[in-house]
Amino acid sequence: MHIISSANLDISTLLRNKVLVVNETIEGLLSERKEIHPDLRTALTYTLSSPGKRIRSAMVLWCCELISGQETSSARTAAAAIEIVHTYSLVHDDLPAMDDDDLRRGRPTCHKAFDEATAVLTGDALLTLAFELLATEVSSAELAVKLITQLAQAAGGAGMIAGQIADLKAENTVGTLEDLEYIHINKTAKMFRGATVMGGLCGGATPEQLEALAQYGLKIGLGFQIADDILDVSASSEQLGKTAGKDVKAAKCTYPAVIGLEKSKHLEHALAHEAAAALEPFGRRADLLRQLALALLDRTR
Ligand code: IPE
Ligand code: IPE
Ligand code: MG
Ligand code: MG
Ligand code: MG
Repeated sequence: MHIISSANLDISTLLRNKVLVVNETIEGLLSERKEIHPDLRTALTYTLSSPGKRIRSAMVLWCCELISGQETSSARTAAAAIEIVHTYSLVHDDLPAMDDDDLRRGRPTCHKAFDEATAVLTGDALLTLAFELLATEVSSAELAVKLITQLAQAAGGAGMIAGQIADLKAENTVGTLEDLEYIHINKTAKMFRGATVMGGLCGGATPEQLEALAQYGLKIGLGFQIADDILDVSASSEQLGKTAGKDVKAAKCTYPAVIGLEKSKHLEHALAHEAAAALEPFGRRADLLRQLALALLDRTR
């Protein structure tokens, strides 16, 4: 088991730098697409400029850097694409037909700021845009196809959408640990795995390296959703920028509901250490990603 490097890597400063890169990339790519309908552009800009943590996109960039030593232009496109798909998933997740939330990233949700139809269409346009970006902005066609495949598998009917439908079906039921794992791995962990693998692909990773990154991403992602469940019961709406306490209200099948808060925290810690251990093949070069796994344990939003 690896111990976190004592080298003074300030993860929050490094993350802030990646947020700037991702935001700039998204803004640039959006402004180049002049023919987007003006009403849609307003809603797209509203959702994409909201202050998300950009964790998945930072992971794309860091995994590319781990493999190749640099942040490539294809990695920036992939980082933008995964953030755009994630943002779409939140716009739809907040709709009255799903979680029915009014607050997201400290602002009114898309359907509150505009209307429901606009929010549905904004989600549609975001999802489509992400794949257009990968198809048109990644200079190697072979790499573009691999990235498109990863993102589609992470976000689609055997990934995030599978988790979302299982999540809704599990409302008001007493879920087993197996049900929960299915929901959380699909709705969240597979997007994290998509991020780490896409970053690895951009850096030219070997199949063995991709497998290690996939394991890392999946473990971090499961822990991330457990933390989201924990924060829902333990943090305030102000702190989260989204309505706290809504999982209990909606009788969601969550880790705290099924195994309790203490066991949930324990599991989150264990997953962070397993994620760090998955990076073994990279040695000390992966210290930043190891530190990220542990730093996410302390997140407050
Ligand atoms: C929220 O994701 C939804 C989950 C899958 C837990 P984030 O916590 O990454 O949300 P933002 O992007 O920072 O708003
Ligand atoms: C994750 O679950 C949602 C997505 C995969 C989009 P939640 O429904 O718990 O996410 P929040 O709490 O609304 O951000
Ligand atoms: Mg949900
Ligand atoms: Mg929700
Ligand atoms: Mg939640």
